[in-house]
Amino acid sequence: MDPSLDNLYATSLSPQAIKKGLNTRRLGQQPIYCFPVVESTNSEAKRLARQGAPEGTIVLAESQTKGRGRLKRLWVSPPGKGLYLSVILRPPIPPQLGPRITLTAGVALAEALQDTGLTPKLKWPNDVMLGRRKVGGVLTEASCSENAISFVVVGVGINVNTDLEDFPTSIRNLATSVRLSTGKAISRVGLLQTCLYQLEQWYECLCQGSFATILESWRRHEMTLGRWVEVSLPESSVAGVAEDIDSHGALLVRDKGGRLHRILVGDVVHCRVQDRQGLPAS
Ligand code: BTN
Repeated sequence: MDPSLDNLYATSLSPQAIKKGLNTRRLGQQPIYCFPVVESTNSEAKRLARQGAPEGTIVLAESQTKGRGRLKRLWVSPPGKGLYLSVILRPPIPPQLGPRITLTAGVALAEALQDTGLTPKLKWPNDVMLGRRKVGGVLTEASCSENAISFVVVGVGINVNTDLEDFPTSIRNLATSVRLSTGKAISRVGLLQTCLYQLEQWYECLCQGSFATILESWRRHEMTLGRWVEVSLPESSVAGVAEDIDSHGALLVRDKGGRLHRILVGDVVHCRVQDRQGLPAS
C-alpha cells in the first residue's frame, strides 16, 4: 500500500475532523472527547454519564490500555489503527429491554461496514465478523434504577487499519481488520461518521418501539441462527440449535432433548456440522 495513505489514514481523530460533514442530528453533535490514550473509553463515558453528560456525547481514544470486551475479555487497541469509541445514550425503554441495544448497535455497525464494500455478519449477541474472523464488537453497559434506564454506554471497537502483527499471537487466527480483508487502508474518520449516522438511524428506530424492523435487519446480517451452538453460561453450558431471537433480543436454543433455552448472556461457539454429536448431518 502507498505509505502516504498510511499517514493520511493514521491522522489523529479530532472533534473538528469528525464534526465536519457529520450527517447526524444528535450523536456527535454533543461534546466529542478524543483522548490519545485511556484505560477504556467505556469507563470514561460512564464517568461522564454519571456527571450528567447528555445523550449523544462521544468518547474516543487513539488507544486503550485496558479496552474491555464482553465476559471480561481484553479488546486489543493499538494506537492509530482502530476505532475505539463509546456513545452515551439515554433510551426511553425499560431495563428489561436493554439487550435490544446491543443488537441494534450490531446492525448499525454491519450496515456501516457494508458501505466499505465488505459483507459483515453478526454473531449473537455482539460480534461483527468477516468470514470466521472478528472485525468488531459491541460492549453495552447500563446504569438502571428499578424501572428506568438512567444511561447506556455503547462501546464500539473496530479493527480498521490494524495489521496482523498488532494482534497478540493467541488471537491472530481469530481476528481481522478492514484493511486485512480488503487490502486497502481506509479513513477512520469516514468510517466513524458512517457508524454514528447508522447508529443514530437504528437507535431512533429502537426508541420508536420498532424493534421488529431492527430484528428484520439483524436477521439479514446474522450468521448464528439455524446452527448448532455451544453456549457457555456463568455456571453451566447449553448445546443445541440456535432457533431464534425473541422480542427482548435473547437467543433461543433447542437442545437434543427438545427443550428450549432462553439465553440472555453467554459465550456462543458456532460448531461445525460434524460437532453435532449424535445428530443427523444437515
Ligand atoms: C466485544 O467484542 O466483546 C466487545 C468489544 C468492545 C470494545 C470497545 S473498544 C471501545 C469501548 N471501550 C472498551 O473498553 N470497550 C469498548
